[in-house]
Amino acid sequence: MREKILISTGGGDAPGLNAVIFAVVKAATRKGWEVYGSRSGYSGLLDRDDLIRLTPESVEGILPIGGTILGSTNKGNPFAMPVENLAGEIQVVDVSEKIMASFKRMGFLCHIAVGGDGSLEIAHRFAQLGMPVIGVPKTIDNDLEVTDRTFGFDTAVSTATDAIDKLHSTAKSHDRVMVVEVMGRDSGWIALYSGVSGGADVILVPEIPFSLDAVCEKIADNELHGKHYSIVVVAEGATAENGEVITKGKGELGREEAVLGGIGEWVANEIRERLGKDTRSLVLGHLQRGGSPTTFDRLLALRFGAAAVRMAEAEIFDHMVAWTPPHMISVPIADAICRRKKIDLSSDKVLTAREIGICLGDTQE
Ligand code: F6P
Repeated sequence: MREKILISTGGGDAPGLNAVIFAVVKAATRKGWEVYGSRSGYSGLLDRDDLIRLTPESVEGILPIGGTILGSTNKGNPFAMPVENLAGEIQVVDVSEKIMASFKRMGFLCHIAVGGDGSLEIAHRFAQLGMPVIGVPKTIDNDLEVTDRTFGFDTAVSTATDAIDKLHSTAKSHDRVMVVEVMGRDSGWIALYSGVSGGADVILVPEIPFSLDAVCEKIADNELHGKHYSIVVVAEGATAENGEVITKGKGELGREEAVLGGIGEWVANEIRERLGKDTRSLVLGHLQRGGSPTTFDRLLALRFGAAAVRMAEAEIFDHMVAWTPPHMISVPIADAICRRKKIDLSSDKVLTAREIGICLGDTQE
């Protein structure tokens, strides 16, 4: 039978989304299946104009391109969708039944939902309503449980490392402290990987509430040893001991959850005040989400896509494809979204950081 499958991309974009779409279309077409893409998350199931047929010809050339040809949104939760009524007021409505009806009417074998924890949670809710769903783990934050990696992370780390590399020369020319804020939500994966690889002096991650005394001691110690510049990498979700997470304010950016940001500038101001050192801060922001995926991310995304089609054929639903090296496995979506994956503080990467003299904001040597 000529099966039809649906694919969507949800949440914040990540380099490698197009590579997943590419692999799904290629692998499914070779089985004689038809593939449809839903624009902006679930829009394709609400509006026929947002449902597009994907063929090997239409995905030709997209593999190395960042972003997603389907578009993405982190404001499109079908269980609580903000919709403007006739009076111009915003009302929150549940359109999940409409989506289920449309999905059934179209006769799809399954829905491959590519997303992070928010999108996968929505996919899991649809699975509970009877939609055969397969999840593919995406996020630059690498904070999804059960899979060793999410695609997008390696590219984000590579962008951040490149930026840190460049900061060394300007920091050195001016004898400055440069504080760079990187993304990652409540996990410090991007900060740790890019900070260690980029030769940072200090790395602050949400997993270790930091002491400003420890940070300033490290910078002062650099001075003492004739190194008059320092590089501090701060994860956006890092907090000072007894401090609070700094955000841009709930609702300010039109998001349900508060968007993190501002800790880098705060740390820079504190360092300037305490040490009297010329200090500058910068926020890498969405640069980390853009651009062409690295080879690692492309390969991972392609493998995720192909494995998702394999799962569709085996009818393994309400599961997510996960990478536990060297294997691609399937795990219940519920296990992937139950909590956010944090850095293991006893891991070799953390140990390495400490052993090469990087200050992690605590007093441990
Ligand atoms: O989850 C990916 C991510 O880039 C986080 O690292 C960051 O906190 C958030 O999304 C930013 O969201 P937005 O694109 O809505 O600003």
